[in-house]
Amino acid sequence: MDADAPVLLFDSGVGGLSVLAELRKVLPGAPVIQAMDNGGMPYGTKTEAEVAARVCGLLGRMAERFRPRLICIACNTASTIALGMVRDVLNVPIVGTFPAIKPAAAMTRSGTIGLLGTAATIRQGYVDRLEAEFAQGKRLLRAAAPELVGAAEAKLRGESVDPAVFRRAAALLRDQPGGDMIDTVVLACTHFPLIKAELAEAFGPGVEFVDGASGIARRIASLLAGQELVRSQPDLALFTRDSAEIAALQPALHRYGLDRTGVL
Ligand code: DGL
Repeated sequence: MDADAPVLLFDSGVGGLSVLAELRKVLPGAPVIQAMDNGGMPYGTKTEAEVAARVCGLLGRMAERFRPRLICIACNTASTIALGMVRDVLNVPIVGTFPAIKPAAAMTRSGTIGLLGTAATIRQGYVDRLEAEFAQGKRLLRAAAPELVGAAEAKLRGESVDPAVFRRAAALLRDQPGGDMIDTVVLACTHFPLIKAELAEAFGPGVEFVDGASGIARRIASLLAGQELVRSQPDLALFTRDSAEIAALQPALHRYGLDRTGVL
């Protein structure tokens, strides 16, 4: 493998940046391609078949073109639906992203956990299995918050977002029976850590947030242990459709160390 073979992080949009931020902390020297399927976003409102076909097809093309040393599906929706299929078709180590129910169950004092994700993620059997395995004896309340995906995208483009968006998302959990007892919220979409401060404001004091990004970054680092990592050119932000939003995202991409842009 070439020393400058990249780690490829894949999401429908800017959500994967929340994983990149953690990866930078543990592997600052790793060459990265940050892939954003802006041509296919949002995933959360698509069917399982649509998400699986799109993710398998795109990752196949990206793997062939960029020869990554590892692919991280930095997207809960794509991982909970398509991780197995992607592993079956690609001969590259693949790391997925899953709702952080286990750490949330360890953190909650009230015994009531909220989970915010996309509609596609919260209906997955994978989430049922995580709940059965790790949140026994706890109450897990789930809500789909598609509006937050657009809010995170807008924030990273430098636009201001109406705080009512975050209040509506909080109400989706708070208004369920037992929702007033929530003290821990799982951010089960990689877009949501990017708007954690706004969500914290909307939920009010006494609520902790947990996501999987740091665990994923540690997993990637352990899989790459001992490998030579050389950044021979600036890290690449790779989109699937040319559009005006790419220019608007440039300042944010620069903050994450992505100083080259391309379209697949
Ligand atoms: N960032 C993605 C996730 O983690 C999904 C956003 C979308 O709906 O495209 O689930």
